[in-house]
Amino acid sequence: MTELTKMVIPVAGLGTRVLPASKVIPKEMLTVVDKPVIQYVIEEAIEAGFKEIILVTRPGKESIENHFETHSELETALEHKGKVALLASVRDMLPDNVRLSTVYQHQPLGLGHAVLCAAKLIGDEDFAVTLPDVLVFNADGDHAHDLKAIVHAFKQNHAAQIMVEAVADDKVSSYGIVDCGGAEFLPGESHNVIAMVEKPPVGEAPSNQSIIGRYILPARTMTLLRETRPGAGGEIQLTDAINALIAEMPVQATSMQGRTYDCGNKLGYLIANIKFGLNHPEIGADLAAWIRQQEL
Ligand code: G1P
Repeated sequence: MTELTKMVIPVAGLGTRVLPASKVIPKEMLTVVDKPVIQYVIEEAIEAGFKEIILVTRPGKESIENHFETHSELETALEHKGKVALLASVRDMLPDNVRLSTVYQHQPLGLGHAVLCAAKLIGDEDFAVTLPDVLVFNADGDHAHDLKAIVHAFKQNHAAQIMVEAVADDKVSSYGIVDCGGAEFLPGESHNVIAMVEKPPVGEAPSNQSIIGRYILPARTMTLLRETRPGAGGEIQLTDAINALIAEMPVQATSMQGRTYDCGNKLGYLIANIKFGLNHPEIGADLAAWIRQQEL
C-alpha cells in the first residue's frame, strides 16, 4: 500500500442526458442551488483528505478548472464593497496543500479508458476515483462521511473499496452491480465482492447493490486497465478491470450511510436541487414553505 492522496475525476463526457443545458456549459458546471456540481465533489474529496485531484477532461471544458482559479478582479470588487461572505465563497476554493491538475481524454472510449488517461500522474500509487454526476448527501451534514469510511476501510482491510447503494430492481440495468453472494447489507457494512456486472439486464442482476461512483483502488488497477479490452457498450470499463483485480486481492463493496443524488439526468438533477436547497441555510426554510403551499 502507498499513501492515498490522489483522486481521479473523469469529466470528459458529453453530458448527453442533460442536453440542451450541457451543450456549451459542462454538465459538471451546472449548479445545484449556488455551486456547480463539481465543487461539491471536490469539496467532498478535500474533506476526505485527498491532496491531488486529477480531472480527466477534454478541450472545451476549461470552465471546470477555471472555477477553482483565483479571480482577482472579482475578489477586489467584493472586498471594496465589503461583501465578506460572498468574498469567502469565491476565495481560496482549494487549500494551499491541494493541487488540481488536468489531463485530456481525446477519445470517448469509456470510464476505464478515462481513468487510464491519468496513469502517468498516478504513477505507482493507490488512488481514488469519483464520478462527478453523483452527489452524496449525509443527514449529519458531513457529505464526505461515506468517502472517509471507505478510505479508512481500504487502509484497515487492505481491500479495494467500492461504494454501493441499493436501487429498485427495475433500475439495475443503469448501473454496475456487485455480486456479494447474496449478502445482506446494513448501512456502512462491507462484504467481499465475488464479481461485478456492468449494467445487467433487469432480472439477471446478481443483486440490487449499485456502484455509485466512489472507488478506492490499488496501484495495480492501472496495469489491469491497460490489459482491459472493450466490454459493455464497446467501452473500456473500469468494472472489468476491477473484476480482474478480484482474482488477485480482496475487493469489498461498502454500503453507504448517506444517499446519492444523480445530477447526470434531468429528474435526478432537479431532485438534487430540491434536496440541497431544502438543506441550504439561506433558502431552505423558504423553499420548504413554498413547497408546502403547492397543490400536489
Ligand atoms: C458508470 C459506471 C457504473 C456505475 C455508474 C454510476 O456508468 O460504469 O458501474 O454504476 O457510473 O453512476 P455510467 O453512468 O457512466 O454509464
